[in-house]
Amino acid sequence: MTTVTVRVPAKINLQLAVGPLRPDGYHDLVTVFHAISLFDEVAVSPAEADSVAVSGEGAAQVPADADNLALRAVAALRAVTGQRDTGDAAVAVTISKRIPVAAGLAGGSADAAAALVACNELWRTGLSQQELCEVAATVGSDVAFAVLGGTAVGRGRGERLTPALVPAAQYHWVLALADGSLSTPEVYGTLDRMRALLAPGGRPPGDPPHGGPARPPIPPAPELSTGVMTALRAGDPERLGQSLSNDLQAPAIAMFPALRKTLAAGREFGALGALVSGSGPTCFFLARGASHATDLAVSLSGAGVCRSVARATGPAAGATVIGSLAS
Ligand code: C5P
Repeated sequence: MTTVTVRVPAKINLQLAVGPLRPDGYHDLVTVFHAISLFDEVAVSPAEADSVAVSGEGAAQVPADADNLALRAVAALRAVTGQRDTGDAAVAVTISKRIPVAAGLAGGSADAAAALVACNELWRTGLSQQELCEVAATVGSDVAFAVLGGTAVGRGRGERLTPALVPAAQYHWVLALADGSLSTPEVYGTLDRMRALLAPGGRPPGDPPHGGPARPPIPPAPELSTGVMTALRAGDPERLGQSLSNDLQAPAIAMFPALRKTLAAGREFGALGALVSGSGPTCFFLARGASHATDLAVSLSGAGVCRSVARATGPAAGATVIGSLAS
């Protein structure tokens, strides 16, 4: 029996610009994904029937049935490659988590990406990275990026990726992991409501002025940040720190007010930039270098503004096979 093990990174969003709600319940967005050195490990081996076992950070919150994103990814790959859910096409998936759950770091998407890469190896399906990304996009908006890794611009739901052609540079990040979680759909919903209330006239959609037709305000189409891209091209952490932006930050803070204090503390301790990651509640901070990251991590821990602190560097490689053991 062969066991294939894959290492997969968490992501942060250096920019997350969110457009209007689409009829399919998603939002068009422009984002700059950045993979960081905080990894889950996912192992797959042939089994009688599909199963998943989860251990480590936040394991109790991860569904261990067919709702698990990694198992959904296995089923999606099986459907594409024509394998059946019988005999040696079924797999036992073992997930060792270090990426916190529902934290804005795409931990569930990472596990799904890892399962795809692992099964592609185990079944010798031979799909290219591009083909795996296409399957990944059907599983979740962030899954394709976890296959790709590095730094990439995401469009559409986030699944249409273009690798950022930027010179090799290493950035030093400090993460403030929160005592709690946020639901991604709820944070998007809060953003929609905040935008409706902030619109001229302050009327929510569906509340027509003077009995006229409802005209929900439409935010401008999201655009790629020239500040972030110029900073990445120059390998300039100072400028990158100043350019970080996330449209989901305001709704995440509205739902989790303690984040305001966390972000302020990081800035006070000299972070070049401070931002909520994705839909939160993790906050990340850009340090000047390795020793500044250590100082920043120690100061943030001491300030008691989060559950725990982690250090990471980026960019990190996407889902990668790190072992294939026959027993
Ligand atoms: O694609 P994924 O399952 O990760 O998305 C989770 C939820 O986040 C979606 O159901 C949707 O409510 C929200 N979302 C969105 N627009 C995106 C990505 C996610 O509204 N581009």
